[in-house]
Amino acid sequence: MMSLSTLAQEILAEVAAAADEPQLEAVRVSALGKKGSISERMKSLGAMSPEERKEAGAALNVLKDRVAEAISVRKTYLQEQALEQRLASEKIDVTLPVRPQAQGTVHPVSQVWEEVVQIFGDLGFSVAEGPHIEDDFHNFTALNIPPEHPARQEHDTFYFNEKPDGSRMVLRTHTSPVQIRTMLSSKPPIRIIAPGRTYRCDSDMTHTPMFNQIEGLVLDGTTHLGNLKWVLTEFCRSFFEVDDVKMRFRASHFPFTEPSMEVDINCSWEGGQVKIGQGNSWLEILGSGMVHPNVIRAGGLDPDHVQGYAFGMGLDRIAMLKYGIPDLRAFFEADLRWLRHYGFRALQVPTLVGGLS
Ligand code: PHE
Repeated sequence: MMSLSTLAQEILAEVAAAADEPQLEAVRVSALGKKGSISERMKSLGAMSPEERKEAGAALNVLKDRVAEAISVRKTYLQEQALEQRLASEKIDVTLPVRPQAQGTVHPVSQVWEEVVQIFGDLGFSVAEGPHIEDDFHNFTALNIPPEHPARQEHDTFYFNEKPDGSRMVLRTHTSPVQIRTMLSSKPPIRIIAPGRTYRCDSDMTHTPMFNQIEGLVLDGTTHLGNLKWVLTEFCRSFFEVDDVKMRFRASHFPFTEPSMEVDINCSWEGGQVKIGQGNSWLEILGSGMVHPNVIRAGGLDPDHVQGYAFGMGLDRIAMLKYGIPDLRAFFEADLRWLRHYGFRALQVPTLVGGLS
């Protein structure tokens, strides 16, 4: 039989060579386990004389303790090593420079869209939508613009090819068809705004073939012109962020409202820059009026019981005015330099509490 000191050397060498915890555990079992080399020797004590047993037993116990101690030391070491390895491999260097600032900006139209929704949302309006490709009924006829009405020419409409039945779809020339869709799909009281794209065959400094409008519609049993004036005044003060803005309500004509008003706000052009709420110049910003009985009827409602107002505003136009952007066409040219200059930071979400702009 191998001498005890050789056995000790062998086991301790195995302990030292164990590269991880499972290997170490295997060494433990092979030495101290039920059938381990040390345990086997313990069993042989029974055959010895009391004298021999005392000596050999003590020596075996010493060996057992040494091995147990060596295993425990090795175990702690292996655990520390494993932890260190993990720390090394999972390390993040927090001293690395942050990534460059995000390059993207929010387009002024998106920003203004969000601002307008915030303001009217606060006034109790919800947002309605309609298709960009409209039929003649929703874009014209239901809005009290019959087939031979001159307003059809004024709109510079983009027409699609004729269908077999002779009808032609159009790119909606205004957001007013959403009025009709809302009336047909819901019951008064109605209180909606409808922001969205509109299309007319027109292009210069202040016109683009695609532009954005925002429609407003309120219908119930009692709403009158005074309510319209208050809401629009409140909107302008809030949107242009000025305490006082003079409003001029000018009699006008739209087929779908009666009476109709165009609304101007006062501004100054000092130093070539437009300032809203100051000075004696006027800027037209929207069309409005009391919804025409024919329109209410086309929307499936009874004009003897239902009344209210509508308005339509150029979203791009009020964006230009608020943020001093001179040329409308630049809105849609996707020029990165322009976007960086006029765009808004992505997290600058407009709220009435936090500020609109
Ligand atoms: N639809 C009209 C336009 O595009 C604006 C408008 C809407 C006027 C609602 C009155 C009422 O010019």
